[in-house]
Amino acid sequence: MSEVKKPVFQPNPQFAATARIKNMDEYLALQKMAEEDYEGFWDKFAKEKIDWIKPYTQVLDESDTPFCKWFVNGKLNVTHQCIDRHLATRKDKAAIIFEGDRGDKQTITYLELSHSVNKFANLLKNDFGVKKGDRVVIYMPMIPEAAYAMLACARIGAIHSIVFGGFSSEALKDRIEDADAKVVITADGAFRKGKPYMLKSVVDEALSQKSPVQKVLVVQRNNEEITWIAGRDYSYNELIKNQSNECEAEVMDSEDPLFLLYTSGSTGKPKGVQHNTAGYILWAQMTMEWVFDVKENDIYWCTADIGWITGHTYIVYGPLAMGATTVMFEGVPTYPDAGRPWKMVEEYKINQFYTAPTAIRVLHKTGENEPAKYDLSSLKVLGTVGEPIDPPAWKWYYEAVGGSKCAIVDTYWQTETGGHIISPLPGATPMKPGCATFPLPGIMGEILDPQTGQKVGLGESGYMCITRPWPAMIRGVWGDPQRFVKAYFGDIKKEGKAVYFTGDGAHYDEDGYITITGRTDDVINVSGHRLGTAEVEAACAKHPNVAEVAVVGKPHALKGEGIFAYIMMKDEVPFGEEIEMAKEINKVIIQEIGNFATCDDIVFVPGLPKTRSGKIMRRILRSIAKGEAITQDISTLEDPSIVATIEAKVKG
Ligand code: WTA
Repeated sequence: MSEVKKPVFQPNPQFAATARIKNMDEYLALQKMAEEDYEGFWDKFAKEKIDWIKPYTQVLDESDTPFCKWFVNGKLNVTHQCIDRHLATRKDKAAIIFEGDRGDKQTITYLELSHSVNKFANLLKNDFGVKKGDRVVIYMPMIPEAAYAMLACARIGAIHSIVFGGFSSEALKDRIEDADAKVVITADGAFRKGKPYMLKSVVDEALSQKSPVQKVLVVQRNNEEITWIAGRDYSYNELIKNQSNECEAEVMDSEDPLFLLYTSGSTGKPKGVQHNTAGYILWAQMTMEWVFDVKENDIYWCTADIGWITGHTYIVYGPLAMGATTVMFEGVPTYPDAGRPWKMVEEYKINQFYTAPTAIRVLHKTGENEPAKYDLSSLKVLGTVGEPIDPPAWKWYYEAVGGSKCAIVDTYWQTETGGHIISPLPGATPMKPGCATFPLPGIMGEILDPQTGQKVGLGESGYMCITRPWPAMIRGVWGDPQRFVKAYFGDIKKEGKAVYFTGDGAHYDEDGYITITGRTDDVINVSGHRLGTAEVEAACAKHPNVAEVAVVGKPHALKGEGIFAYIMMKDEVPFGEEIEMAKEINKVIIQEIGNFATCDDIVFVPGLPKTRSGKIMRRILRSIAKGEAITQDISTLEDPSIVATIEAKVKG
C-alpha cells in the first residue's frame, strides 16, 4: 500500500491500543495468512471460536463448486454458541436491552434469554409440531420475542424466514408460499411514533385457502383487538406459561440450513437466500469482534430491523455469539424528536452505534444540533451499512456524533454475504469518507474487469467480486439451485473460473481504497431497502389501466435513491387527473409490496424507448430521470422521437 493521500482520518490511538486488530501490519499479516493457507486460516478461527458438539473432518469441500461445504461433518447448535456457552460466566449479564417506541424498557439477561428461548422452542415443538427442517415465517415487530422466535427455531433445527413488517400481505403471501411454511409467528401489532399499528390483520389477508400454514402464533404486544381463527391462531402469551425452561438443542450439521431471507434481484420474484449453520455463525461472530471491537462490558446498538440481514447478523446472531449486550429498539429514530438516538446513547452509555446512511442524513437534516445536547462520550465505533455514505453525511457523523474521536466503519456487504466483507477496522484502518476501504481478512474481494476477468488497477473501476468461497456465503436460492448459479456465478470469470459477483460496481483509488459505486444491475436501493425494478414494475402492472411500465432509480437527497416510474396507460389519463392516477398506482404498490416501495415520481408517457427487438433502453430512462443530456445513440430505437416526447413530459 503506498502512502495514503488526504483526506484521511487516523484511528484513535487510545482505542487502537486495545483493539483486536491494532494496526495495518496486523491486518496485512492476517490477510497474508489467508492468502498463503486459506483453509488453515479458517480452520484456526473455526476451532478457536466455535463450541463444536462434534469436530468437523474437512474445512472446505469445493468438489461441487459453486455449491461449497464448510466444516464438513461438524456438529453444533447456534443457540449453544449464542446462549448456553455463556451461562457459566455471563448468566446475569444483559444479553438484550429493549426499548419500546413509547419508552418502555426491559433488560434480558443471558439466563432469562435461555429460559425464554427454551420455552418458545418447546412451544413450537410440542404444541405446534414443528420439526427439524420445517420452515417458520416470522412477521414481527422489533420486540424481544422476535429474537426469541429466531433462536427458538434454531434451537430445534427449524428454518426461519423473517419477513420485514413493512411488507404487504401480498408480499408476505408470496414468501410464505415459496418457503412452504407451516407456521407463522406474528404479533397483534406494535407501536410506531406513539401509536399502535397492526400486523396480525396483514397475516390474515396473506393466508388464503390454499396456504401451507397450519398454525399462527400471536404475541400480544399492543393489545389491540384482533381476529382469532379457532384451530389456527394461538396466543403466545397464554401458551408460553406452561412451557419448561429446558429444551435440548437439536444437533445440527455444519451445513444444515439456519434461515432463509428473501431478497430482491434484478429479475423475477425475490429469492430465498439460504444460510447454513456453522459458516454463518462463525463469520457473524468474527466480524462482530473485528469490525465493532466490542469489549466485555460494552453496550452495542444496531438500529436495523430484524426483517433485514443486518438485523439477523448484527442485532441477534453476531452480538449474542460473542456474548455481548445488544440493544433492540422498537421505534423510529426521529420520534419523539431527532434527539432520540442520542438520548439513548447517553442513557445506556452505548459504545458502538450502527445505522444506515439514510438515517444519518435524516437525523442531520432534522436535528443537526441534537447530538450536542447529550453526553455521547461513551461512543467508540460508529457504523454505517446498506448504501454508499456520502462524504457530507460521513463528516457530520464523524464530527457531531463521534466528537472526531470515533472510528467510522463503513461496512459493505449483502444478504448473500452473511456478514461484512469490506470494512475499515476501527483500530487499524486510516479512514476516508465514503470508502468501505479494504476486504476483511479471509475475504478475497477484488474489483475485476467484467470483460477480461482481470483485477483492475489503481484509479480504475470495475465489478466487485469475491474470488474464493467464504464460510458465510449464500448456500443456495431456496428451491432453485440453477438460479443460484446463474444469479451469482454467471457473469464474471477469472482465469476461466466463475467467481461470485456482488452486483455492485466499485473503484480503487490511488491508495487501493475501495469505494462501492452502486449496483450495476436493475436493483435499486431506497433508504437502504433493496428492491428490484422488476418487482416494482410487476406491482404497477397490477393496476387494470396500466399497459406498460419501466422503473428506474434516481438519486434522492435523503433516501439515497428514489423510484421513478414511466407508465404507459391503456386509456390515456385525462388532463389534470395525473396526480390522482399516480396516487392510485402507488396504492397498488402498497398492496403488492409495501409503503417503502412507492414511487417518488410517476410520469405518464405515450410509449417507452425500445430497441427494434423490443428491449426497453433503461439507460436512456435513467438519464432522463436525472435530467442529464442524452449521450446514448438513439438511432437504433424503434421510434427515436419518443425520447424527446418523454423528456418534454418529464420537464413539464
Ligand atoms: C448496498 C445490506 C455501499 C450494495 C447489508 C449491496 C452498500 C446492497 C453498502 C445489499 C456500503 C450495502 N456501501 N453500498 N457500505 N452496504 N450496500 O442485501 O448495493 O439489503 O449490494 O444487504 O446494499 O443490500 P442487502
